Amino acid sequence: MDGLEALRNRYLQEISAASDEAALEAVRVAALGKKGEISLKMRELGKMTPDERKIAGPALNALKAEINTALVARKAALADAALEERLKNEWLDVTLPGRPRRQGTIHPVSQVTEEITAIFADLGFSVAEGPQIEADWYNFDALNIPPEHPTRTEMDTFYMHKADDDDRPPHVLRTHTSPVQIRHMQKAGAPTRIIAPGRVYRADYDQTHTPMFHQVEGLAIDRDISMANLKWVLEEFCRAFFEVDNVELRFRASHFPFTEPSAEVDLRCSWEGGQLKVGEGDDWMEILGSGMVHPKVLRAGGIDPDEWQGFAFGIGIDRLAMLKYGIPDLRAFFDSDLRWLRHYGFAALAQPNLHGGLSG
Ligand code: DAH
Repeated sequence: MDGLEALRNRYLQEISAASDEAALEAVRVAALGKKGEISLKMRELGKMTPDERKIAGPALNALKAEINTALVARKAALADAALEERLKNEWLDVTLPGRPRRQGTIHPVSQVTEEITAIFADLGFSVAEGPQIEADWYNFDALNIPPEHPTRTEMDTFYMHKADDDDRPPHVLRTHTSPVQIRHMQKAGAPTRIIAPGRVYRADYDQTHTPMFHQVEGLAIDRDISMANLKWVLEEFCRAFFEVDNVELRFRASHFPFTEPSAEVDLRCSWEGGQLKVGEGDDWMEILGSGMVHPKVLRAGGIDPDEWQGFAFGIGIDRLAMLKYGIPDLRAFFDSDLRWLRHYGFAALAQPNLHGGLSG
C-alpha cells in the first residue's frame, strides 16, 4: 500500500513532539480513533482483492502496533518527566535541623513548693488544702485571733464585698495558711501530720511584700508531741532544703494567738558579697513562725486538748525561694517577665526528690 511509510514517519514524529498527555491523545485519535487515518485505511481492506489484502493487511497491522507502542512509550516518558519536575519542586532537605521551639520553665515558687513537699513527705507529712476565699471564722476566730486583733482590720485583710441584704458570714482572702489546720482537724481528727502549701493575701506592697504570696503550714498532732519534735523536724527540713549538713536554728520566744508557747525560728547564716551561706557566720535570719497548738485551736478543730497535743509552723515559701536561689526582689516573682522566668526558672522534667537531688 502506498504512503504507509510517510504515514508512519509523520505519526512517529508527532508522537515524539507531543509535549503533554493532551497533545499525545490528539495524535492517537487522529491515527487510531474511530475516524482516525489508520482506522479508515483498515476499513478499506474489505474492498480489496484477497491478494491485495494479503499484503496490505499485515503491513497496516504492523503500523498500528508500532504506533501504539510509540504512544505508550511516549506516555510513560511524559509521566516520568512530570514526576521528575515535581520531585525537583517539592524537594525537602531532611537533614536540616528542626525549628527550635521555646521551652517553658518551672517557676521558682512551684519548684520550691515541690522541694518542700518532697522533704516533708519523707518525714511522713501528707499534703492538705483549703480555700483561698475563707470564712473569717476559719481565718481568725477558730485560730484564737480575737475580733479586736490588728490583722483583722481592713488595713491588712482583703474582705469580700457583701451586699446589704447578704446574710452569709463575712469572707476574706485568707491571710495565712493556718485556717487549713482547722479544716483538716475537723475532717481528719487526730493523730495527724500534714503540710498545707498555698497562696495567701495581705494588703502590702514593697521589695519584700506582695499582696499575694505563698506559705506552707505544718501541723502534727499526737498524744505526746513536744517542742523537741518540732525542733528536730525543722532542723531536718532545713538540712535537706538548703542541702547543708551543719544547719543551726535559733528558737526565739514570740507570740502567736494560735500557739502556746510560740517561737520564731532563725537560721544561722552569713552574707558575704551578697552571697548567702547557710550554717556558718554570725548572722541570723528569721525563716518561720511556730509553736505548740493552742488548746482553743484544737477544740475549734474538734480535737480534745486533754487527750492530744501538737505543733504547728508557718513558712514563707517565696522567701525561702529568694534565699536558696539568690533572687533579690520578691515583686519580680509575679511580674510574668519572660526574661526573668527563663533566668530563674527550672527544667520542667527535673522533678525534685530527695534521692535525685532537690534542684534537679
Ligand atoms: N500564720 C502565721 C503568719 O501568717 C505563721 C505561723 C506562725 C503559722 C506560727 C503557724 C504557727 O502555724 O504556729 O504569720
